[in-house]
Amino acid sequence: MNIESIRKDFPILERKVHDKPLVYFDNAATTQKPKQVIDSVNDFYSNYNANVHRGLHALSEEASEAYEKAHEKVGNFINSEWDEIVFTKNTTESLNILAYSLGLDLKKDDEVLITKMEHHANFVPWQYLGKKLGFKVKYVDITKDGELDMQSFDSLLTNKTKIVSVIHVSNTLGTINPVKELIEKAHDKNALAIVDGAQSIPHMEIDVKDLNCDFFAFSGHKMLAPTGTGGLFGKKEAFEEMNPFLFGGEMISSVSVEKTEWNMLPWKFEAGTPHVAGGIGIGAAVDYLNKIGMDKILKHEHKLVEYALNALKDVKGIQLYGPKTDKRAGVISFNIADIHPHDVASVLDTHGIAVRAGAHCTHPLLHALGVEHTVRASFYIYNTEKEIDVLIDALNDAVKIFGV
Ligand SMILES: Cc1ncc(COP(=O)(O)O)c(C=O)c1O
Repeated sequence: MNIESIRKDFPILERKVHDKPLVYFDNAATTQKPKQVIDSVNDFYSNYNANVHRGLHALSEEASEAYEKAHEKVGNFINSEWDEIVFTKNTTESLNILAYSLGLDLKKDDEVLITKMEHHANFVPWQYLGKKLGFKVKYVDITKDGELDMQSFDSLLTNKTKIVSVIHVSNTLGTINPVKELIEKAHDKNALAIVDGAQSIPHMEIDVKDLNCDFFAFSGHKMLAPTGTGGLFGKKEAFEEMNPFLFGGEMISSVSVEKTEWNMLPWKFEAGTPHVAGGIGIGAAVDYLNKIGMDKILKHEHKLVEYALNALKDVKGIQLYGPKTDKRAGVISFNIADIHPHDVASVLDTHGIAVRAGAHCTHPLLHALGVEHTVRASFYIYNTEKEIDVLIDALNDAVKIFGV
């Protein structure tokens, strides 16, 4: 991987923040965009902006073709068919579609198994619907090292479990979960298996056929694509069984006073005018990632995490959270003595460093670890060891300022 040449593709990396070069370590929230993605969106609006699947004019045909091609690119990227890919606005929407579409069919005795590691996007919809509709939601424990407690998983999975929905990579700790094994166990009980892939698809090769998951939810904007983009993979047979959650134009094939027929996949789940430019942007993002190679991206991030963990342990008062390097993706959460994470983040900001401070939409996970909030640094393809050195210097500055 030629990081210097990759960095040249990201115009934002040239800007300064408080007169310092930008060090962007908030990639788990959203990634920066390469000019190839920005140009693809610009090209759409400048040259062929139109609604899709509606017009018989040239612009609409060009827009429809590009939008469908983007589904094909994402399908190839995760080894699925193009019509098994539904574009959404983010992982949250993808998971809510599943919770509403599948949840509404659950009965009082049915169970949904999720984990205490989930992002709120895969926690709150199930909890809310469980309370409303009467099905039971169970929560797998985590170990003190921030891994899933497999004994807890095994004991909570029962013949009543209808849905298992798990996070692939923790956005707070970086833990890489053994989802293939969990999916197999779910299927042994005839439960559907959902993977929240928001933090895995940007960083490692995903093969939904090999994973054998029924559904895989993700955000485009966390993998170089524009904000407002995301997706949901569903196995054809699972999508065909499932009812839509959003209704209106585009998702129907015929409507009469007597009845409505759903459109073919994937449009059955894409009601209304889609984010055409965003969809085309995901296609461009996938092209960009393919050119680098997902195996190289994961290796690069492992190297960065190893380097960072090694350097961070010498910062005075540091408390690091999460598993060992080989079980984690490019995310590091920490606290420094009793300095509030917002204060640490503010000092880092004065050094031009962007990190996230807070609970990272994972209150149950932090409760389980006995922590209220952390500082989170998350890496991506354009980050370097030199930038980690800048982070360490800035943290030592915070240590001095707050008198640790
Ligand atoms: C693991 C995980 N799931 C779901 C989400 C929600 O993603 P979005 O905000 O793009 O809907 C995030 C966002 O950080 C995440 O990290």
